[in-house]
Amino acid sequence: LTKSSTSDRKKDHIDLAFASAIAKQDGRFYYEPVLGTHPTPNDKLEGFNIAGKQTKSPLWISSMTGGTELAGQINHNLARACNEFGLGMGLGSCRILLESDKYFKDFDLRDTIGDSLPFYANLGIAQVEQMLKEGKVSQINELVGKLRADGLIVHINPLQEWLQPEGDRFQERPIDTLNKLIKMANYPIIVKEVGQGMGPESLLALMSLPLAAIEFGASGGTNFAKLELMRNRNGDAEYHEELAHIGHSAEEMIEFVNDINSANNAFLCDKFIVSGGVKNYLDGYYLLNKIKSEAAFAMASGFLKHAMGTYDELKEFTKLQLEGLKMANNLLRVRE
Ligand SMILES: Cc1cc2nc3c(=O)[nH]c(=O)nc-3n(C[C@H](O)[C@H](O)[C@H](O)COP(=O)(O)O)c2cc1C
Repeated sequence: LTKSSTSDRKKDHIDLAFASAIAKQDGRFYYEPVLGTHPTPNDKLEGFNIAGKQTKSPLWISSMTGGTELAGQINHNLARACNEFGLGMGLGSCRILLESDKYFKDFDLRDTIGDSLPFYANLGIAQVEQMLKEGKVSQINELVGKLRADGLIVHINPLQEWLQPEGDRFQERPIDTLNKLIKMANYPIIVKEVGQGMGPESLLALMSLPLAAIEFGASGGTNFAKLELMRNRNGDAEYHEELAHIGHSAEEMIEFVNDINSANNAFLCDKFIVSGGVKNYLDGYYLLNKIKSEAAFAMASGFLKHAMGTYDELKEFTKLQLEGLKMANNLLRVRE
């Protein structure tokens, strides 16, 4: 960024003053300009501990896909940002690695991210169900080991699969598949949706399992039901349009989790990655203040936009998010 001269700046101010009036305030916050400083080097963000690995901030990079040339570069950029800023990340679906090692290097990020930060492999519940059925669950354990991942994220995406012509069909309830996997896995497990979120009964069921965390994958951002409808490979999209509107926002899911917790306080998993429709640090700050459990917030598409080009672009974006979060900590209070 170049600094403008004072006279240039004053001229900008005059030119832009009339255009700058905004009609509506962000009603989520109290703004307390008298009580905080700008972010200083002494300001630290609170990290997030997941299965024994500590991050330096409560920001997580949500799972995005691998297996194409572009994905390899995106993944390496993301892992580099994790290393530089002390973040954790989940890989996109590693299903392709169950078939061959052709794309292994796109996912092989442990050396880039470093040993001390959380780094998770990812598979769909359909693959887990299939591997269990075929008695091949040891292949999943090997996958996690080979990637030197800390554990596995299982995504549960029945609506997306339903709308995909090539989509999988679940024969068993995901909760039953998860119960079986947990018995056979020797690593931490995170469970997520992919952009529709989940309702209170599913959250309660997951909170009753010994998971490392539950990631929301809430509705409000990337929407795979809509995405599959736009692909419309079945030619029947018009009959399913409304499915894209099914789901739960991150804010609503936080209400579910807080309600579940206030009714009962003995859960095996009370740790969350709040994701889905999180656009920036202001959303993240707001949501983290609303949830009463230990949590990080996460973005997928928000990072993707800046991870496709040079690392410097992603670095700038990530830095800006973390500085913004510190500013929010100092000057904003979330309204009850
Ligand atoms: C390009 C892309 C690929 C994704 N691939 C996966 C995946 O392989 N596994 C998964 O669990 N989620 C996947 N997701 C879903 C994200 O992890 C996240 O739950 C969802 O995009 C909502 O977050 P957002 O609104 O910040 O994008 C993908 C998202 C994007 C944008």
